[in-house]
Amino acid sequence: MYSTGSIWKATADIPDYPALAARTRADVCVVGAGIAGLTTAYLLLRAGKKVLVLDADTIGSGETGRTTAHFFPPDERYYQLQTKFGEEQARMVANSFRQATDLVENIIREEQIDCSFLRLDGYLIPQVHGQNDAVEKEYVAAHRLGVDVERLERVPGMVYDTGPCVRFRNNAQFHPLRYLAGLAKAIEKLGGVIHCHTRALGIDKEGAEQKVRTTGGDVHAQHVVVATHTPFNDQVVMHTKQAGYSTYVVGFKVKKGAIPQMLLWDTGDPYYYVRLATFDDSDEDILIVGGQDHKTGQETHSQHRWDEIEMWTRNRFVHVGEIAYRWSGEVMEPSDGVAYLGRNPMDSENVYLITGDSGNGMTSCTVGAMIVRDLITGASNTWTSLYAPNRKPFHGLGDFLTEQTNVAQQYGDWLNATAVTSPEHIAPGEGALIRRGLQLYAVYRPEEGDLQVLSAKCTHLGCAVHWNSPEKSWDCPCHGSRFRTSGEVLHGPAVAPLAIVTLPRE
Ligand SMILES: Cc1cc2nc3c(=O)[nH]c(=O)nc-3n(C[C@H](O)[C@H](O)[C@H](O)COP(=O)(O)OP(=O)(O)OC[C@H]3O[C@@H](n4cnc5c(N)ncnc54)[C@H](O)[C@@H]3O)c2cc1C
Ligand code: FES
Repeated sequence: MYSTGSIWKATADIPDYPALAARTRADVCVVGAGIAGLTTAYLLLRAGKKVLVLDADTIGSGETGRTTAHFFPPDERYYQLQTKFGEEQARMVANSFRQATDLVENIIREEQIDCSFLRLDGYLIPQVHGQNDAVEKEYVAAHRLGVDVERLERVPGMVYDTGPCVRFRNNAQFHPLRYLAGLAKAIEKLGGVIHCHTRALGIDKEGAEQKVRTTGGDVHAQHVVVATHTPFNDQVVMHTKQAGYSTYVVGFKVKKGAIPQMLLWDTGDPYYYVRLATFDDSDEDILIVGGQDHKTGQETHSQHRWDEIEMWTRNRFVHVGEIAYRWSGEVMEPSDGVAYLGRNPMDSENVYLITGDSGNGMTSCTVGAMIVRDLITGASNTWTSLYAPNRKPFHGLGDFLTEQTNVAQQYGDWLNATAVTSPEHIAPGEGALIRRGLQLYAVYRPEEGDLQVLSAKCTHLGCAVHWNSPEKSWDCPCHGSRFRTSGEVLHGPAVAPLAIVTLPRE
């Protein structure tokens, strides 16, 4: 478990499923039970396939349980997509987002999932008053691509003057974990099998089949869908094309109805964004505000990120009440701004990825599920090459090179990382690196009990992990792996835990 909890976890009943206990077989093995995995499983079952879903933890225990669940335009602005990919492909992104949102709405209707799905308008506003260029450029680009947009002097009905904005009509929001709970029940009803508490350790080709090695036995399947947020099967290629960013959320109590239902995000990079969560059985709404992203594993005491969000919010929404929730999570940023959805570039025709979905996973993962379903069933899909994971990073070469340089610098931590000299310098409930010779040790002092000492060497590609004080985890600054204080993997690409070791004397 993470140290902080999202509003969704506190307000959903999530079904649990037993671990896999023996070798088994399916047409398709889907690894990961977040929105990407469960949507893919659902669509494939509807297409007549025999599907088995595995999750290392529980349903929605990954980023889908920590999202803010807006369906809104791509994080990479339409004017940027148009410059990088050209008008036709940027229009395809817009169409795919629209169709994904429609699909989610249809699934909710057909399966009668009670998850507060709401169609609503969203507004892009300037981060700094008077700097309206990005808003204007986005309006022109989105309008040209056929997106339903309107230019306004300010957000209507808003409690503060936002300045000129673009209204994007007909976006959506929902309760992500209630949606997953509904999808899981629909999967069962369609004959799908789900095993939680079962970690996939690797995928091997065996004749015409794939074998997924897991902690509960091997799964043989014709096709494997890796829907683990970041792929665990591909150790290098995909991890040079995307980067993990930590992102922060605060939920404030507000008087019911005091703030209108809308989505709001600004032109900053990273941006602040806002939505409301309402519950029939409560006389308060929760105003959810997110932002303050930074590269995962590259900041230890990041509690101030929540303070920044609080200050931003109280300066604008002066009537918000006390804080009810604070949490953080990780997003995977693709180097060219478009998710990687489709065939695994490396080893096989029958292994598929859904990753790189940035802060747009609700829509991108649904697009990914549609693409993967079509690849497996042989149906045509016009988005396949746009989203292909094997595309070269030409469209985002500058960002790609910046990220590679940043990763290379992180290996310098083996020589220069900030470390304490002795466990006495670690407060209860905190962790720190300790150096002994050329080795770094990740040492956590629990509130009670013995020190927990781990090797600081990330089991993915060997960078030194860093302490994440608010979430009480060890985070890798290279490709975003995260580990519990016990060493277990919280987030890939790592598959193996950090090694438990003994701290040598000084
Ligand atoms: C704070 C925050 C706010 C966000 N806001 C938005 C938003 O407003 N709109 C939006 O569209 N997107 C948003 N996102 C992004 C979105 O939440 C994610 O892109 C999306 O949830 C990813 O879904 P997923 O199914 O790919 O991954 P996950 O939900 O992380 O699911 C992956 C699953 O795979 C399992 N797993 C991992 N490794 C293994 C393994 N080896 N074996 C078996 N199982 C494994 C995990 O346990 C997990 O359950 C936000 C993200 C964060 C963190
Ligand atoms: S995540 Fe790649 S080295 Fe740690």
